[in-house]
Formats: sequence, C-alpha cells, structure tokens
Amino acid sequence: MRIPLRLNRAGWPSLGLPRRICFPDPRDLLRPEQIAAPEVFSERVSILLLSGTRKTTRPGRHRQSDALLVKALGQQRPVVLDVGASDGSTALDLLTTLGDAFASYFVTDRALSLRVRTDDRGRAFFYDADGACVLAATPRLLFYPAAEGLRWLPRWASPWLQGGIPPYDPAYPEVSLVQPRLQELARRDARVVLKTHDIFQPWDGPAPTVIKAANLLNRAYFSDDQLRQAMRNFWRALAPDGLLLVIDNRDIEKASLFARTEGGFRHIDSIHGGTEIRPLALSC
Ligand SMILES: C[S@@+](CC[C@H](N)C(=O)[O-])C[C@H]1O[C@@H](n2cnc3c(N)ncnc32)[C@H](O)[C@@H]1O
Repeated sequence: MRIPLRLNRAGWPSLGLPRRICFPDPRDLLRPEQIAAPEVFSERVSILLLSGTRKTTRPGRHRQSDALLVKALGQQRPVVLDVGASDGSTALDLLTTLGDAFASYFVTDRALSLRVRTDDRGRAFFYDADGACVLAATPRLLFYPAAEGLRWLPRWASPWLQGGIPPYDPAYPEVSLVQPRLQELARRDARVVLKTHDIFQPWDGPAPTVIKAANLLNRAYFSDDQLRQAMRNFWRALAPDGLLLVIDNRDIEKASLFARTEGGFRHIDSIHGGTEIRPLALSC
C-alpha cells in the first residue's frame, strides 16, 4: 500500500469516489447481525491488511478450481485443510460443492479475529494477535499504521496519526472475521472446524487428504525460500497421495493441482496456465 490512508465510504456517502481510495466501513464488522449479505461482509474483511498480506476474498472466485479438485477426488471423502481462508467465503463455496461428501474441513487462517477498541467519537482501532494496531477507522478516514507506505506520508502526518492510537489491551473485545454463516455451520457440524494456523508452522491436526491454498502462495507476499518452506510443511502434513490445490485469482482464475509423492509433488492438471509457483512446487 503506497499511502496507508483511505476515505471511509460511510463518511462520504454522496461523493461516488472510486473504490481504490474510498473503502467500505470496517466498523460494520462490529455488528455482523446488521450485515445483509455475505458479499458485504467479505468487502469489509477484504480491506484489512495484516503483516503485508491482504485479506481480500469474495464468494464464487474458485469455481473452476473447485471443479478440478472434485473431479480428481472421485468417490473419496476428503479431509480438507483450507489455509489462508480469510473470512471463509470460498470455504463455504467448496463445502457446498462437496455436499455431504467430506470427512472433515479445517478452515484456517493466520488471523480469524482481531481485538477492537471503540470510543465515543465513533472510532474503532483493530489490533492483531501481536498487539499491533492494523487499522484505525474514524467515521471519515481509514489509517493503516502498520503498513509499509508510512514513509510516503508528510513528515508531520505519521506521528500525528500514530499518536491518536490507544495502546493495546488484551481485554479489548474480540471481533470475528469469519462469515456468520460459516460460524453457524461450524457450531452445527463437528466436521467443520475453524482454527488459527500459520502456514510457516507445522500443521498439528489430523493428516489432510487435500490442502487448498488460494491467493496466498505468491511472490508479491513471500520470498521463494518462504514459499518452499510452506510447501515442505504441506508435504509433511498431507496424507500419502494427498492433493494440493494452489489458486491465484489475479486477472483470471489460475490453478494447479498436485499430488503428494514419496519425494515431493507431481503435477496433475492446471487451468489457465496454472500457478506461477508451479516450478517451485515441483522442485521443493
Ligand atoms: C488474499 S487472502 C485469500 C483468501 C481466500 N483464500 C481467497 O482466495 O479468497 C490471503 C489470506 O491469507 C492469510 N495469511 C497470510 N499469511 C498467512 C500465513 N503465514 N499463514 C496462514 N494464513 C496467512 C491472510 O490473513 C489472508 O486472510
């Protein structure tokens, strides 16, 4: 993010400003029961930026990749590990496509919730698990104090903006970043589990037969060494012959499906040329 400031659309309703400078109001996440549609929830989660990675997501963006996976699964009932799932919209899509034909589904992300402090001026401050303020939302402005682009602000602006941020307190209320419908599904169906998981740490759950990593393993976010480390973690976690689906939705939906082998990964199929990290996946 070049300049870590945006307008809060709620404060400028009639101006019709472009989406790239005027974002939807993240404070709506504090009242999820008032959010009418899953797309509206996703729009709010998508404006978050945590440790250099965006939480961008929306329902319906993996249709062709999910179809490729389901075809490869045949009659198998997979144990799915969905990493970097953001608000879980695309997990809900795959769960719908699988119907009842799955053994368990782990919806994971490094951050499934944030702590939020509000005040009587209508401001909300969002903090990650390390206590860093990742977003300060006022009725008219959005400020990303942890973003790289701070150096582009005028010299006086950054201390002024940062100075208004209250110190972190672990007692601040926790706000879920997971789609309410998925939270509800996880309460009803013990096979659906919401779990915090960092792809650079070993997976500590049951061995998945499918790992899905969408819009996460890309070079804009991570170095090749980090990507290799994530791939090795996936390889260690997967059951023998397990499948790895890697998706990129930048211009069009691109995806590659790999099978775990004794020594690494084998390419099964790709759509629209596949993921940019295909060579790296095959050599890790
Ligand atoms: C661009 S979103 C992709 C969301 C969803 N998979 C999709 O395709 O719509 C990337 C997600 O990866 C998560 N993420 C970033 N680094 C991660 C890490 N080291 N381990 C697990 N998740 C991570 C972010 O929190 C974010 O929710």
